[in-house]
Amino acid sequence: MSKNQLDQKAQAWSALFSEPMSELVKRYTASVFFDQRLWEADIQGSLAHAEMLAAQGIISAADWADIQRGMAQIEAEIRAGAFQWQLDLEDVHLNIEARLTQLVGDAGKRLHTGRSRNDQVATDVRLWLRGEIDGLITLLQELQRALVAVARQNVEVILPGFTHLQVAQPVSFAHHLLAYVEMFARDEERLQDVRRRTNRLPLGSAALAGTTYPLDRERVARRLGMVDAAGHPQVCQNSLDGVSDRDFAIEFTAAASLCMVHISRLSEELILWMSQNFGFVQIADRFTTGSSIMPQKKNPDVPELARGKTGRVVGHLMGLITLMKGQPLAYNKDNQEDKEPLFDTVDTLRDTLRIFAEMIGGQVNPASGQKEGGLRVNAAAMEAAAQKGYATATDLADYLVKKGLPFRDAHETVAHAVKAASSHNCDLSELPLSVLQGFHPAIDKDVYACLSLRGSLEARNTLGGTAPAQVMAQIDRHAQRLG
Ligand code: ARG
Repeated sequence: MSKNQLDQKAQAWSALFSEPMSELVKRYTASVFFDQRLWEADIQGSLAHAEMLAAQGIISAADWADIQRGMAQIEAEIRAGAFQWQLDLEDVHLNIEARLTQLVGDAGKRLHTGRSRNDQVATDVRLWLRGEIDGLITLLQELQRALVAVARQNVEVILPGFTHLQVAQPVSFAHHLLAYVEMFARDEERLQDVRRRTNRLPLGSAALAGTTYPLDRERVARRLGMVDAAGHPQVCQNSLDGVSDRDFAIEFTAAASLCMVHISRLSEELILWMSQNFGFVQIADRFTTGSSIMPQKKNPDVPELARGKTGRVVGHLMGLITLMKGQPLAYNKDNQEDKEPLFDTVDTLRDTLRIFAEMIGGQVNPASGQKEGGLRVNAAAMEAAAQKGYATATDLADYLVKKGLPFRDAHETVAHAVKAASSHNCDLSELPLSVLQGFHPAIDKDVYACLSLRGSLEARNTLGGTAPAQVMAQIDRHAQRLG
């Protein structure tokens, strides 16, 4: 490190220290190699702060102009990959500030007036996360659109619905997919909600107690877009809290964990459905891999990895929440450890959402303008599976109830019928009328309509049920919502 750099670093706090940091401690305490991804938020935050300092007469108009000029150059250097990030300058904030001072002299040294790295970093993380949340919401909507599009093609396709992974009742495959759309719609709501609490300004809290300069925090908030739906500036109202809590990051990671859990459940189903024993769906080859030893294999690596990565994101939630629990007010260096789990959560969720939207919905073929290569559905295999396992037994019980039997008696009667069908190795609908009448004389030939898979589906025609008319209504509702 040059003498100049040493001076820069020493300048960042004081001349109080009588010995330099060891290399190991430097590496241990530095964050620049991961927090440099905050550079854009850091520059944005600094510009908003400097503009306000000038407007309040705390720095001169000339200083403000120099700071803008210097920051424009730094931005260009970073974008071009020409910026020299230095471990000795510890973090993104000190790296950028040191370079600014190198470029514009004293104006650079005035930027930190009325500010601390504590409120600076809290602001940067919030700004950065807000942008990422917006991107994730867009991707979540993409994924929902993909699921709704596949659902629209499969309203009449019948899948065995399971409870306990045992065939329970037939459902429309579209209905099954729409269950995931509901989950992802709630994930989207949760992200919107977290965004509201993330989008508040810590800057002006300074180190912990506020500052002696006449700052206009609301001006800074407005400039950074930290406003509510009505356009009112959103400013952290307690300086100690503003610099120290990372609850917004924890909330975000909790929302991301839930979203990954939903993707993990879908993954688990895709993996089962793709297995030879189900054969319900196929995903495009580019989402699978072969085996190095078994030539016949096509493994569902992408869904399996998504299921695996869910553990990683839930782990980050545990990491962040545990990071917070023992910290006295206000800022502690522990908080520097918020970044890697938060960044990795965003990266993992972003990639997973992108890949799933494409795997389910396909990709636009530029020649045709149509989406191709999405989830392929084997309707015949699904329907054949729904024929096994007496999926319409409940319908027979409901039929008897409508003929006047109490439900519990009807349930018992049907159990006998299932036992008989099972010993004849046939479906309930394959039992002759005379045999069915042996179980109860009220049974008539109209029973066969309700023993069919389609009849069973159509009978569940209440809000939220699997009847094709209900499913279509839900598809239209989602399509409208998603635009
Ligand atoms: N790199 C630090 C972080 O991420 C910046 C804040 C440092 N503040 C301090 N007082 N040491 O938290």
